[in-house]
Amino acid sequence: MQASTFSQTRKKNTVSKRAGAKQLKTGEFYFRIVFKPLLFILLLAPALWLAWGAYQDSLGANPVEAVIRGMGDWGLRILLLTLLISPLKRLLDWPRLLRLRRMLGLFAYFYVALHLLAYVWLDQYFDWNEIWLDVVERPFITVGVLAFVLLTPLALTSTKGMMRRLGKRWKRLHRLVYPISILAVLHFWWMVKLDISEPLVYSILLALLLGERLYRNVVRQG
Ligand code: HEM
Repeated sequence: MQASTFSQTRKKNTVSKRAGAKQLKTGEFYFRIVFKPLLFILLLAPALWLAWGAYQDSLGANPVEAVIRGMGDWGLRILLLTLLISPLKRLLDWPRLLRLRRMLGLFAYFYVALHLLAYVWLDQYFDWNEIWLDVVERPFITVGVLAFVLLTPLALTSTKGMMRRLGKRWKRLHRLVYPISILAVLHFWWMVKLDISEPLVYSILLALLLGERLYRNVVRQG
């Protein structure tokens, strides 16, 4: 009698394990086949939209400015989105979200690199003397260049191989994303002349994202 109850319980456990594994497989399937590709397309869309606008000549009176600003805006937005991932993962209790960070980080770099390229090419026509003068004389450009330079090693070390090779140092290196985000917002503040509403919104969002991390560290240590 006892033996049959035992075998029934084992059977039940096996069935629930199988159901759990199936559920996991379905979750993984949707994440990899639906969610990630969809996010990829969404992140690429602004660049395609701007390229289409430039091709159609529908970017307004100053298309060069529209391209530079558009790429800069998306670089900053995606950078902040990258910082949102880990608090969102905790809030939703969805660990898979962490696997989006690399894609988001690389997209942020992609937009910032295009932003820089548009400035160097379309705005300055590769006039390196003028560009150098801008870097040393206009603080908002200095700060932008610094943010870009610091972002480069993060993009270059974003592969799994580099993560393994650098070990603990990888985590330390990637903490640079915090000062980089501050520099990027500062770059925006220094650029605007009258309407401060946009940099203000980005500053509030960044303060919330950094504040949450600071609070958690203090609570954990306290
Ligand atoms: C992490 C790096 C960077 C980020 C996130 C970033 C982001 C931004 C943002 C959000 C704007 C304002 C866009 C708007 O007005 O809506 C902007 C403007 C601008 N950025 Fe950057 N930027 C970065 C690096 C750079 C670099 C390296 C350069 C050039 C050396 C640069 C050159 C400019 C210029 C020239 C503008 C002003 C465009 C204009 O007034 O028409 N940025 N950037």
